[in-house]
Amino acid sequence: MCPFVCAIFLLCLSSLSTAAKFTQVYKWSEMDFEWPSEATRTQALETGTYNPEKIYPRYMAVYGTRMFLSLEKLVGIPATLVSLPTTSASYAPPKLTPFPSWDLHLHDFGSCNKIEWAVGLQVDSVGRLWVLDSGSDNYCNAKLWTIDLINNDDTKIIHRFPFHGWMHDLVIDETANGTFAYISRWGELHMVVFSLEQNESWRVNTPRTRVISLALSPKEKPRELYLGKYNSQELYSIPVTALHSGAKTAHPKRIGKWSTIDSYRMVMDNNGTVYSAFLSDNIIQFWNTTQKFQAQRFYEAAGLDSFWPFTFAADPHGTLWIAVFDEERKPRYRLLNSF
Ligand SMILES: *[C@@H]1O[C@H](CO)[C@@H](O)[C@H](O)[C@H]1NC(C)=O
Ligand SMILES: *[C@@H]1O[C@H](CO)[C@@H](O)[C@H](O)[C@H]1NC(C)=O
Ligand SMILES: *[C@@H]1O[C@H](CO)[C@@H](O)[C@H](O)[C@H]1NC(C)=O
Ligand SMILES: *[C@@H]1O[C@H](CO)[C@@H](O)[C@H](O)[C@H]1NC(C)=O
Repeated sequence: MCPFVCAIFLLCLSSLSTAAKFTQVYKWSEMDFEWPSEATRTQALETGTYNPEKIYPRYMAVYGTRMFLSLEKLVGIPATLVSLPTTSASYAPPKLTPFPSWDLHLHDFGSCNKIEWAVGLQVDSVGRLWVLDSGSDNYCNAKLWTIDLINNDDTKIIHRFPFHGWMHDLVIDETANGTFAYISRWGELHMVVFSLEQNESWRVNTPRTRVISLALSPKEKPRELYLGKYNSQELYSIPVTALHSGAKTAHPKRIGKWSTIDSYRMVMDNNGTVYSAFLSDNIIQFWNTTQKFQAQRFYEAAGLDSFWPFTFAADPHGTLWIAVFDEERKPRYRLLNSF
């Protein structure tokens, strides 16, 4: 059997054995950007400012008919934030359009008013895409953008953090007392909280817990922030009120253990199911938080070779979108949704 047939066979097997149903929306052997002209693409390939081999989708958000991806920041990547349509009549999968414009991306190192290194993405209830931007090492501080998806993609820098580099993910909490962003940074023993109304951010220490992934429980009940811990199988939580009080330290409570380490991304749907993906593991697990902790298999792709195999997002209707990435085999990228 050729490796391709083998791969298909294994994929079928593994999706058959999971409970949820997935639809493949697109597959790509290679992704490409939507360039202003063929000449600019050729030139970028020649100068090395573009290398399609280096496209690694990392974070995702979905709103209406558009999907947003942030891409790993590497030499050869001309824009770290792109959009694509969620449906297409064309047989060919869509290209990636730098978002909100090429202009906010093509710039020299250390252009502090441009999108330098987009990471975590989240859409709020009024249709604003929040973009966490790591800035540039030793040069521009990390910052937070909002892009108003229902008002001509009106784009603003809403905050600059007093540090740069290695921002990871964010969730947005819209409360009666104001809007907050909770932010994780790779390898740090603290989280960052941002208050939109106060236009202020502060650190909240999380002793012994290097928080990476974040997920926020549904609005109906007092909200909990779920925290995945670096280099550990453990899942923690803290009530969000512990982050609003201005306290300098929070004490995450241990909830349970996933069956694998390094939960790097989480998302929670409106029914209180939290999903987690794990570095270098081919599985997405879930836990129905209305029940006792139990890690269950949600999606598994046999033989995937990738450090960061999945990224996902829930859209406002509760559909979960999953991008699957394979370093070695084609199609290298697949986009699925579950309903
Ligand atoms: C919020 O603070 C940033 C600095 O972090 C500043 O550039 C910006 O103008 C402030 N925004 C408002 C609305 O005051
Ligand atoms: C708003 O703040 C008040 C006073 O600090 C607090 O009692 C209340 O629980 C907060 N509400 C929310 C939704 O966080
Ligand atoms: C989660 O558990 C609750 C209570 O047992 C159940 O009613 C609900 O259907 C479960 N949700 C999912 C998505 O299975
Ligand atoms: C939540 O539960 C309701 C009722 O069981 C179901 O119709 C809906 O599809 C669920 N939503 C998600 C996001 O699972």
